[in-house]
Amino acid sequence: MPDLSKITNIEDLRAIAERRVPRMFYDYADSGAWTEGTYRSNEEDFQKIKLRQRVAVNMEGRSTRTTMIGEEVAMPVAIAPTGLTGMQHADGEILGARAAKAFGVPFTLSTMSICSLEDIAEGTDRHPFWFQLYVMRDREFIEALIERAKAANVSALQLTLDLQILGQRHKDIKNGLTAPPKPTLKNLMNLATKPRWCMGMLGTKRRTFGNIAGHAKGVKDLSSLSSWTAEQFDPTLSWADVEWIKKLWGGKLILKGIMDVEDARLAASSGADALIVSNHGGRQLDGAPSSIAALPAIAEAVGTEIEVWMDGGIRSGQDVLKARALGARGVLIGRSFLYGLGAFGEAGVTRALQIIHKELDITMAFCGRTHVDEVDSSILLPGTF
Ligand code: GLV
Repeated sequence: MPDLSKITNIEDLRAIAERRVPRMFYDYADSGAWTEGTYRSNEEDFQKIKLRQRVAVNMEGRSTRTTMIGEEVAMPVAIAPTGLTGMQHADGEILGARAAKAFGVPFTLSTMSICSLEDIAEGTDRHPFWFQLYVMRDREFIEALIERAKAANVSALQLTLDLQILGQRHKDIKNGLTAPPKPTLKNLMNLATKPRWCMGMLGTKRRTFGNIAGHAKGVKDLSSLSSWTAEQFDPTLSWADVEWIKKLWGGKLILKGIMDVEDARLAASSGADALIVSNHGGRQLDGAPSSIAALPAIAEAVGTEIEVWMDGGIRSGQDVLKARALGARGVLIGRSFLYGLGAFGEAGVTRALQIIHKELDITMAFCGRTHVDEVDSSILLPGTF
């Protein structure tokens, strides 16, 4: 176990991940669509929100424990589904799921993961986890995937609604993103500077899309993510399909990618258990507002009918607290998780969770609250949100 006591914030993990992860995978995680304006505002808008400091309030007996869709969580933070996680670090999804299990927060596996549903079930002794679904044109494949998720002990399905087509990410195009990377001179030169990553990859057989390769019909080549997405993802996805998935799955359903009050109302009336206010980490519609800016109106409109969560820009426990104050029952972390993973594998994910937890606990106390369920917008300075 590396000594990570001097790693005190998510930025420390990011800087180390940037050194250790091959350029094309680091860039894949750390980028947004087009101008990256929405990606940047996800983080920046959190900074504008100010907290009210309260003093001489008994701070003993604090707790961040709560529930998300009825599941007990050590803090209201889940690991977000992120594509190609097993390329940030060998067996990345298994390591992330193990760290989440030990910490007591939910882990979400992406459809576009490197490790498969079965790998996670086996790697965590069948601990329940969440699975994120993309709807593809091949509906038989989707039906089989849902059956596999049930067999793997998945306890909630996260249906992503904002990626029927892929937002353009300039860096991925320039880097020629593939999984595994093609042995071009440029890639080989970059890999030569990442010995740890290479050793990890040599020690695993999981180097391409584990949920898809060998399962989806007519999939010959997963080499280019953007062209593969364009061929396979269903651009006709509609609310009727949400209904179809809901019936097929039959369990807890979370709808991800809601940024508009009208869509939030449709999500609430679909009978789903939670919705996630999300602009996909600024990776889809560049020019959309930040998730934290979109959250209050959505929470206000449907927060009593459906659990409202958010993701996008969470880099600290302060951000978690602010999101809670503005109506999110829970949040998801994508990049904060990936930076920890890319930097130190499982220990790095644990460290990211510890950092966020500590900041959440201490900030909550300074705001005069001892339980995360007591947090509401009265902890925020009027005029700053
Ligand atoms: C996939 O989920 C992506 O954002 O690349």
